[in-house]
Amino acid sequence: MELDAVRNSYARWAPVYDATFGRITHAGRREAVRHINARGGRVLEVGVGTGLSLEAYDPALQVTGFDYSDDMLRKARARVARRGLKHVEALHQMDARSLDFPDSSFDTVAAMHVLSVVPEPEQVMTEIARVLRPGGQVVITNHFRHERGVWAGLARAAAPLERVLGWHSDFEIDTVLQDPRLHLITRRDLPPMGMMTFLVLEKRVN
Ligand SMILES: C[S@@+](CC[C@H](N)C(=O)[O-])C[C@H]1O[C@@H](n2cnc3c(N)ncnc32)[C@H](O)[C@@H]1O
Repeated sequence: MELDAVRNSYARWAPVYDATFGRITHAGRREAVRHINARGGRVLEVGVGTGLSLEAYDPALQVTGFDYSDDMLRKARARVARRGLKHVEALHQMDARSLDFPDSSFDTVAAMHVLSVVPEPEQVMTEIARVLRPGGQVVITNHFRHERGVWAGLARAAAPLERVLGWHSDFEIDTVLQDPRLHLITRRDLPPMGMMTFLVLEKRVN
């Protein structure tokens, strides 16, 4: 999806996102945040959207989020204000392909349901690896292409969702596993019925 399309698509989705796509992807966010809370430290959330995960983070964390869509960000900022989420230090408008943070700034980077939406996901992974400290982790939840089983069969049925959400049901897992600085340490399927996959990648120390 190109950036103009991201802006236009998520301007339409922002008012209804939490009750629709946000609801069916709850399991992935819960799993990712549970993992992140056990680690502590500074967290960057890529494509934070309406901020559905923000209140689940441990208040001892220092969380920074960003998104390209102003409409989604407006929802996230309102949530932070309404719930008084002091652990959320900043929410920026930014393109995931070009991050305005120094190298090695974060202990953990979260990318939930976003990598199959961004243009140039390989470049986004390069930036994630750059801003992560050595030994830090990237926590990913996403739908990836299934060779077999129910989701392989449903890929065609998901085509309308692809058009409106910029969602690619044929998104290859290898796309996010290419940066040599990051090695895969966890991979498991998530409910419902393994639709989403949970991944943890760790940045090599040398
Ligand atoms: C499916 S939503 C996921 C939102 C949130 N992570 C969640 O789990 O609910 C995808 C988000 O990615 C954002 N996005 C897409 N391309 C982006 C880019 N290049 N830079 C930053 N955010 C982007 C969209 O604006 C949207 O908020």
